[in-house]
Amino acid sequence: MALRLIIDIYNMYIHAHQVCTIIQKQFPDFKPKIGVILGSGLGSFAEQLTDNKKISYATLPGFPSCDVKGHAGTLSLGYLGNTGVVCMQGRAHSYEGMQNEVVKTYVRTFKLLGCEQLLIVNAAGSLREDVAPGELVLINDHINLQPTNPLVGKNDEEFGPRFFPLDKAYDLDMRKKLQSIASQNSINLHEGVYIATLGPNYETAAEIRAFKVLGADVVGMSTVPEVLVASHCGLKVAVISTITNFATGLTTISHSHDEVVKTAAKAASKLNILLSEFVHQY
Ligand code: HPA
Repeated sequence: MALRLIIDIYNMYIHAHQVCTIIQKQFPDFKPKIGVILGSGLGSFAEQLTDNKKISYATLPGFPSCDVKGHAGTLSLGYLGNTGVVCMQGRAHSYEGMQNEVVKTYVRTFKLLGCEQLLIVNAAGSLREDVAPGELVLINDHINLQPTNPLVGKNDEEFGPRFFPLDKAYDLDMRKKLQSIASQNSINLHEGVYIATLGPNYETAAEIRAFKVLGADVVGMSTVPEVLVASHCGLKVAVISTITNFATGLTTISHSHDEVVKTAAKAASKLNILLSEFVHQY
């Protein structure tokens, strides 16, 4: 029991700092401003970075081991224009049995490296008939149905207070900027509420009907733990969902992860325009 507590405290305080030191040793002059977390099949953005350096998660203490198809497990560091970007290709999910420490470690690494903003991309199912697979939804709020919260446990005051609000969790200025980039590039960027389930199963049709009543527009199994840790430590966040399928019951097709990865890849070029313009205009 006492040993467990010591290990938890060690992990909580040490990992993000250790990772930051490892990165800064390898790239001493690198001062990123924006962090990016890319989801399934959405990794191509990282290839656009100039001076692109890649680090395998396997060499970063506390980073996730990525074994889901479409999640690379690589941290890319580089520039778009003059703006330094740190980009995660692959993330941890609650359905993998993710430890709270893992999401805290990688989100806080962005913060310790000096990032001010975090762009999160995910694959999601649409609960709206007017939002079809291949389209993009800018998230303006969430409903958390995951039974876990990475911030449960002793609070680390270095990063943020015990209790914190979420009313500005999806930063309005970042959203306005993304909407303006979308309209300049004739990209239809919907807005909506993300409901987070634990997974790993896709939902039943009855669950989707209930989620609609609750006010959700899109459903997914990721992102919310990251938004919670980022909000806690004062990172500004914007989230874009790539719609990979209509949610259960809106269509007769059964979902599969292959379908999710393939459809996400088709939307990648629009998404890359949004992300790269956003970073260029920092
Ligand atoms: N449900 C949950 N997660 C998802 C879905 C979905 O329909 N599509 C992509 N991720």
